[in-house]
Amino acid sequence: MFFECSNNGCVVHTSAKINLGLEVLGRLSDGYHQVETLLIPVRLCDTLVYSPTANPLQLKLIGTPSCPASSLACDPEQNLVTKAAELLADETGRTATGMLQLHKRIPTQAGLGGGSSDAAATLALLNRAWKLNLPTSRLVELAKQLGTDVPFFLTPGAAFGTGRGEQLEPVPFPAGVPLVLVKPPVGLSTPEVFAALGLAPGESASQASGYCKRLVDHLRRHAPITQWRNLVRNSLQPAAIRLSDWIDKIADAFHRLPVVLHQMTGSGSGYYAVCRSWREARCIASRLRGQHGQFALATRTCL
Ligand code: C5P
Repeated sequence: MFFECSNNGCVVHTSAKINLGLEVLGRLSDGYHQVETLLIPVRLCDTLVYSPTANPLQLKLIGTPSCPASSLACDPEQNLVTKAAELLADETGRTATGMLQLHKRIPTQAGLGGGSSDAAATLALLNRAWKLNLPTSRLVELAKQLGTDVPFFLTPGAAFGTGRGEQLEPVPFPAGVPLVLVKPPVGLSTPEVFAALGLAPGESASQASGYCKRLVDHLRRHAPITQWRNLVRNSLQPAAIRLSDWIDKIADAFHRLPVVLHQMTGSGSGYYAVCRSWREARCIASRLRGQHGQFALATRTCL
């Protein structure tokens, strides 16, 4: 997360994420799923701009080619930014005031964490702009109330997520790794993808093998990618394939391309490939862009 603040307000750029491996271990008694996942920040960012006013907080959503206005929620009340601002105001006993503009670049319903990233950015930005001085640990507690992935965006770097995915431990992962991100024109809903696994509360996933934990062990030893790329799997991908034929379509396209590895991110429908070079990532992204109406872009991992 990158801030620029002045007397006229604050701007924050907040990244997307990919899941480099996601294993579902079972379903918890509260209905959530127990997962192990490796979360990696990527440079594709949304930008949140705050201007102080004495009026009740207002939010304006601004679309871009990678996240068109038509894909944004019509009702700003449903937006996680508004929810985050109200939660912070309630917690600190102040009134939510000011004007927020959210420039969306991270595609929605893509498993790229856009909404979660925006919520985390709102907590961090308003904590500064409203001069609340809450420690990061308290922001993390508020973030957990907003969604599983929200806490990840409050601290820099890659992380191993356990529990629901919200219990985080830092993992070393290099910045600058070239990626291609693809978002089909159709998004997927996270609850629907998890539900399509068909696990009952308290039931364990029969095929859980600990691949994500082994992947993290390799990264902690700084092992080369050739030693761990076969451990990059996503247990949600078969469920997503049952809900949308786009996932197989994109996977087929990447099978024919010279990439290091490719995978669906989170609960989809976004998909990524790790490439050998920035040049190759740009070349592949321009080849895939617009094919069947999907969006593709080259980006990199970041810290
Ligand atoms: O935590 P968050 O609100 O982002 O989760 C959205 C939905 O995704 C949950 O309501 C739940 O249906 C599903 N989910 C899950 N297990 C997880 C994370 C999310 O079942 N570990």
